[in-house]
Parts: sequence; C-alpha cells; structure tokens
Amino acid sequence: MALEHLLTVDDLDRETIERIVARAGSFAEVSGRDIKKVPALRGRTVATLFYENSTRTSSSFELAAKRLSADVIPIKAGGSSVAKGESLEDTVRTLSAYGPEVIVLRAPWAGAGDMITRWTDAAVVNAGDGKREHPSQSLLDIYTLRRHFDSLEGKKIWIVGDILHSRVARSNARAFRTMGAHVTLCGPPTLLPPQMGEALGCEVTHDITGVDDADVIYTLRIQNERMNESFMPSLAEYVIGYQINSKRLGAKQLLMHPGPVNRGVELSADVVGAPNSLIEQQVESGLVVRMAILYELLAGGKRQMGETA
Ligand code: CP
Repeated sequence: MALEHLLTVDDLDRETIERIVARAGSFAEVSGRDIKKVPALRGRTVATLFYENSTRTSSSFELAAKRLSADVIPIKAGGSSVAKGESLEDTVRTLSAYGPEVIVLRAPWAGAGDMITRWTDAAVVNAGDGKREHPSQSLLDIYTLRRHFDSLEGKKIWIVGDILHSRVARSNARAFRTMGAHVTLCGPPTLLPPQMGEALGCEVTHDITGVDDADVIYTLRIQNERMNESFMPSLAEYVIGYQINSKRLGAKQLLMHPGPVNRGVELSADVVGAPNSLIEQQVESGLVVRMAILYELLAGGKRQMGETA
C-alpha cells in the first residue's frame, strides 16, 4: 500500500511497515558514513509545524529532511504568528504558499492532521495529535525492536503506565499487533479503563506482577499536563504499584520508553541506562525511520517527482 499521508497506524499494513523498516535500515548505513547526506529529496520542501512541545520528534524530522537534502521550514507555535492568534487553517494555507511537499504536524487536537489535508496539497504526517495517535513513534519502535528480534510474531509486549492519556499507547498497541505481537496493557484502573483493551484488541490488567513474563516492557510517561482531575492518589502510590525498577525488570527483558522520562516515577533512575534499556536506541532509530517515512511519502509512493495529490 503506497502512503499518501501518515495520519494513523491504520494507514500502515504489515507490508508497508516492513518496507519502511527495511528502508530505515539502508538509511542507517548512510548515517554511518563520513558524509551523511543523500540527494534523494533535493529540491523538495518539508515544513514542520509544532503546536506542542517536542524534542525528539521535531529534531529528528528536521534532521531527517536535511539528511535527504530537502529544504526545511521549521515552525514552533510559540515563536510564530500562531502566538498572535493566527488560526491553524491560516497557518497551513500560509505555509502551503511556499509549496512544501510534506507538512509534519504536532497539535493537541485529535484529528488535526486529517483536517489540514483539506487546506494543503502537501502530504501530511501526524507527529502526535493530542491523546489520539503518534504513528511515526510506532514505526521507530518497531524498527528498534527488529534490531533485536527477527520478527515480533508471538512476542509478549507489556505497555505499562498512563495508557489513558497516551497517544503512543493507542498507536503502538495496534501497530505491535499488526506485526504479530501479543500486547498487554497494564496500569492503575484510573489510567486504564477496561474499554481501552477492547478498543485496542489487547489484554488489560491492573496487576503488575505478571510483567516478568513479558519479552518487552514498554513504559509510558505520567502525563501531568493532560490530567485535569485527580487520576492518582499520589505519585508515591503509583511508584509502589507500577514503577519499573531493577526488581521488576528481568535481565533478559527489553525496556522501552518513548521519552521524555520522568526519572524516579515510571522508571527508576538505574534502569534508564541499563544494558537492556533501548531508550537511546529508540532516539537513534527516530532519525532513520523518519528519513524512511519522508522517502516513502515523496520518492517511493504516490507523490513521486512532479506529482501532487
Ligand atoms: N517521543 C516523543 O514524541 O518525544 P518528543 O515529545 O520529545 O517529540
């Protein structure tokens, strides 16, 4: 399936994921060279538009575009005319006047990426829309795991923490299942309503003790900024009940976290840099996987040179 936009993991079947993972692998080889740039997207323009804070996603999409020789227009809402009250539609139409072939959008509104496809001819990448989706994170996480496993078929992956507020959990649970993994969601009842398991096709448990059976423990940040009522009696109780620490992490289990980490909350400080922690590898993977996403949208898919949607 050729990608026109990357808005949701529903855009990604297994074959498309395999193709992007393989291409990211070839870009990893380029990243190991002295000259890390390739001319694949020379003459193309990528705009990155961030209405929410980001370190990893914004920097890696920007660097990915530059490594592919594209021109980049990086916009952060805080330093732009968005801060003067310009609407999303006017901002997108303004950026589109420069003729970008891709707009990468992070916004707090679910479905914002889908909405802006009406106002631009560019391919749109959803770089996180509120609590809904973060599909490029899923791709980089699958790529990271494939550096350790030939296949995710039958692998047991536990996603632990603040599932309710997590776009990563929503995207990853489905993407991991597409790749054949068995996914269990684990967290306190206030942060993991039972209907989420049904919606995502995963097992749900509020009991952390079974986590020793997992091949991969994927931990999530406690998202204080998205909590507008009290979801936990206290952080201390969360730590006792659900923190992944050296007592809960087995030596053969792989540990993941999308970042940024609240050290001492969802993870104890000592496991963040443990030998079986993939957290730094996830960041490395973000660059090459986002190169592969841009390549897929512009050079490999429906928008080859000279074509628009
Ligand atoms: N994982 C992730 O999306 O990180 P940033 O918020 O730093 O982009």
